[in-house]
Amino acid sequence: MPKKKTDTKKKWQKAIRKEMLKATLREAQARYGTKDPAFNYRWEHVTAVVELATRLAEETGADPDIVVAAAWLHDIRKETGPRHPIEGAKFARSFLPKTDFPPQKIEAVAKAIEDHMGLWRKKPLKNLESMVLWDADKLAKIGLTAVFHGAGDVLNRNRPMTLKRLIKNGRNNQWQQRTVASMHTEPARRAAQTRLQIYNQLWDTLEQELHGADLRLPVSEEE
Ligand SMILES: [Fe+2]
Ligand SMILES: [Fe+2]
Repeated sequence: MPKKKTDTKKKWQKAIRKEMLKATLREAQARYGTKDPAFNYRWEHVTAVVELATRLAEETGADPDIVVAAAWLHDIRKETGPRHPIEGAKFARSFLPKTDFPPQKIEAVAKAIEDHMGLWRKKPLKNLESMVLWDADKLAKIGLTAVFHGAGDVLNRNRPMTLKRLIKNGRNNQWQQRTVASMHTEPARRAAQTRLQIYNQLWDTLEQELHGADLRLPVSEEE
């Protein structure tokens, strides 16, 4: 019996995964001028958000169907810019009824997608599934994930870049403190704080390496 349930679940997940993959290739064409990028930034971002949201749903008791569907589809209309949460929600409302996704949960998926806008919030969200998607989406923009996703995106753009500029851009991250403070769920806030610390340490360590700070003897051993 449980096997049947798993199979059914896989069907709608497969359908939305396929739709999202198509959308990432359209975005790659617009962003990098190719449908075959070395690093598919949007795909990497979305799959990371799906994984984090799934885990966060387990930790918080949020509905896993709603959270997973919303995570897959949250950036599906990214090309529409600041309207992409609204447009993504519209897409979910029209696409999910064509699948075996539980119809009574569709509006909650759309709501979570609509709510995911912004890198920080003045007022916290109210629905648990919206909170989980918001937190997972922002967690994927902090820490080492952000460093590697950012570097992949930069290299794909095939424009001149220096390590010095990467460090400068990496340090230009004041918004991340506000993002951490805006996290809704306890596990995400905790993880975000640690990730931000590691992220800041990484730029410090990299700069120290480049300047050979580790070549100097410790003060106590110097004559
Ligand atoms: Fe988004
Ligand atoms: Fe996103």
